[in-house]
Amino acid sequence: MHASLPFSQSCENNKPFILEVLQVVFRDRQHVLEVASGTGQHACHFAANMPWLRWQPTELQVNLPLLQPRCALYEGDNLADPLALDVCDEPWPVAIPDALFSANSLHIMPFSAVEQLFRALGEYAGDDVVLAIYGPFNYGGRYTSDSNARFDQWLAEQHPHSAIRDFEAVDALAGAAGFDLQRDCEMPANNRLLVWHKAAKAVARGS
Ligand SMILES: C[S@@+](CC[C@H](N)C(=O)[O-])C[C@H]1O[C@@H](n2cnc3c(N)ncnc32)[C@H](O)[C@@H]1O
Repeated sequence: MHASLPFSQSCENNKPFILEVLQVVFRDRQHVLEVASGTGQHACHFAANMPWLRWQPTELQVNLPLLQPRCALYEGDNLADPLALDVCDEPWPVAIPDALFSANSLHIMPFSAVEQLFRALGEYAGDDVVLAIYGPFNYGGRYTSDSNARFDQWLAEQHPHSAIRDFEAVDALAGAAGFDLQRDCEMPANNRLLVWHKAAKAVARGS
């Protein structure tokens, strides 16, 4: 491990569990766009352990310096150079390939940005795209644990626009963008890994 690199302990803790699911849901994918890659720990770990994928990490322009150093040390050839992406960019500066992943981002960005993310998915994603989102979610308007309730309080103190999102609200945005929920995986530390799929449009008969 490189002591001087930006580091997130939670990434280190959750990456083996996320990988276990991604190895299944991304098994037939070719190219993953990661939104809000942070320190790049997920990008490097997932690219190294799913060598059939080309992994494209992205971050807000202002946070690219956190992401670039670890990615620059990656030894394989399936990790692309990090790109700047704000989900509110109009249009998105990168194409949406056949898979998109993001971890711990929906509760950080304002809900209006979450809406923008799904609006962009609705507009720019082609057919047959797998979307995997990791993080904490509320269900039925309730926290799934006391620790998530405390975390939400802490988030509100950091930024009034940050908050644990309601699963139902996010699933409704995904549905409006053409994505159907495929999996809702319970993960350690009261997190979830939600997986949606946008199917190929049915071709009308006789047309
Ligand atoms: C808690 S960090 C998560 C980083 C990493 N994915 C992880 O799991 O450790 C949240 C990230 O969301 C990014 N972010 C916030 N608003 C964003 C936006 N509008 N578009 C893209 N990324 C955004 C921040 O730059 C930050 O790196």
